[in-house]
Amino acid sequence: MKVTERIIVALDLQAEDKLLGLLAKVPELSHVKVGMELFYSLGPDLVKMLKDRGLKVFLDLKIHDIPNTAYGAVNTLSRLGCDMLNVHCAGGLAMMQRAREALVGETKLIGVTQLTSIDQEAMNQQLRIQGSVEEVVLQYAALAKEAGLHGVVCSPKEAAAIKSRLGKEFLAVTPGVRPMGSETGDQKRISTPAEAIKAGSDYLVIGRPITQSSDPQRVFNEILSEIEVAL
Ligand code: C5P
Repeated sequence: MKVTERIIVALDLQAEDKLLGLLAKVPELSHVKVGMELFYSLGPDLVKMLKDRGLKVFLDLKIHDIPNTAYGAVNTLSRLGCDMLNVHCAGGLAMMQRAREALVGETKLIGVTQLTSIDQEAMNQQLRIQGSVEEVVLQYAALAKEAGLHGVVCSPKEAAAIKSRLGKEFLAVTPGVRPMGSETGDQKRISTPAEAIKAGSDYLVIGRPITQSSDPQRVFNEILSEIEVAL
């Protein structure tokens, strides 16, 4: 895999002109993530537009519903030709299995473990999920593997444990990545790009540090250099 392919830029924008502006400013960008904000704003045709530009598209709509509905959603979305799609592992084994059966084409299906904005206290006290975040993430990842998913979304902090328990081929896609000195925002379980790579992360999902920068190309290049050193 080329180093540029390790970075999936989260396009959390609403307007098409902003999106096109960003793509023009960072021409080396090869993988993008379309989340709810952009998808709900511009609709399914957006996937084709990005694919026509030669980009790989991770459609991050975090499906979480009963198995039958999850099947329909994954089937419809994978027909758009996206490269990656995700479901919440919290939907359970049966939901993930049905979602996996619904995939068409080459789309990879990834399970969201615990959001990187959730810390230990919020997980235990608010969500009433007992145990450490790492134990819970590992349990969710093991369920995702049992359901036949291609990998999980997790924080870089859990990537090494997931790789050692579930194997190198099982993908670790990690948001919660912050270059030194950048704003953390609402992210709680964060690591630097170098730490994420050293922990075994396959893809680093990075949004605001790039998209909100006055010089996205410079930040993108700095992250690339940091990854190159860490590999
Ligand atoms: O701007 P930032 O780098 O925080 O963006 C991270 C992206 O990854 C966001 O689009 C967010 O929705 C997504 N994400 C996450 N944590 C997860 C799953 C997805 O931050 N567990």
